[in-house]
Amino acid sequence: MTMTQSDLAIHAHGLAKRFGAVQAVSRIDLVVAPGEALGLLGSNGAGKSTTLSMLMGLCAPDAGKALVFGHPVGSPAARRLTGATPQATDLPDQVTPREILTYAALRYGVAPAIDRLTADFGLDDLIDRRVAGFSGGQMRRVALALAFVGQPRLVFLDEPTSGLDSAAQQAFRVMARSYVAQGGALVLTSHHWDEIEAICSSIAVIDRGETVLAGRIDTIRDRARITRLGFDLPPGLVPPLWLGARHDGARWQVETGDSDTLLRRMVTEALPFANLTLQPLELKDLIHHLRHEENRP
Ligand SMILES: Nc1ncnc2c1ncn2[C@@H]1O[C@H](COP(=O)(O)OP(=O)(O)OP(=O)(O)O)[C@@H](O)[C@H]1O
Ligand SMILES: [Mg+2]
Repeated sequence: MTMTQSDLAIHAHGLAKRFGAVQAVSRIDLVVAPGEALGLLGSNGAGKSTTLSMLMGLCAPDAGKALVFGHPVGSPAARRLTGATPQATDLPDQVTPREILTYAALRYGVAPAIDRLTADFGLDDLIDRRVAGFSGGQMRRVALALAFVGQPRLVFLDEPTSGLDSAAQQAFRVMARSYVAQGGALVLTSHHWDEIEAICSSIAVIDRGETVLAGRIDTIRDRARITRLGFDLPPGLVPPLWLGARHDGARWQVETGDSDTLLRRMVTEALPFANLTLQPLELKDLIHHLRHEENRP
């Protein structure tokens, strides 16, 4: 089945945005389908938040085009279908989470599912307290609940778990996965690779305002099946050069696309290794590896 633009949660092409002398985003293309979670990765200042702002209709792109379920971003139809948590949370002081959520739900034209949101985001002791004095993590929980209160079909989350304790981070993962499993589309930024891997099926790596690597995580993994071998050697012994191993301060490490052949040679050449471990390369290192390969002349 081919998807039309209005079936796609996001269809964005050639987005660009400049702030004075800074070209924050120069060329971003993104496609997100319902039931898909896309993780935006990239270093500080790469252009992730600017990209989200354009997709949420909060700032107009200088170039490019973005549609949300076929509607131009920022249009009332697109906004009704979209929920979001900004990177910085700023809520009015003198109201309670229940009041904020109820008001927000009204604007979406839906009944607020206060009990479910309270449970999903750990708001039990907070729901009827004034927001004034809330801790950073407590604010963040309310902001996350706000993103989902309008029963949106698409949610943007900019560093959703920054400031959350580990129990709240874990609860968020469960909640996000269930939202996506029920057909919701999710775009999130995070500096936590494990969070992206736990929630997202696809990633887009942004570097200096450009998408430099994008695709399904399983496809990216298939492109390079790299294994990392770790082992100890007797003190003072240095592994032979052909092995290409390096010491990470604790153990010897080597990355290979063919661990069988490498291991056979280690055994044949009687390398006295101990405590051997084999692990697939983590996503972060895999992407580093792929980008390094692509940039090779
Ligand atoms: N309103 C603005 N005015 C001027 N410069 C801006 C503005 N917003 C963003 N920038 C600049 O655009 C670039 C991209 O910023 P952006 O906030 O999108 O990065 P980011 O990828 O979200 O980074 P982080 O991981 O730190 O959140 C940065 O150089 C930033 O300083
Ligand atoms: Mg940001």
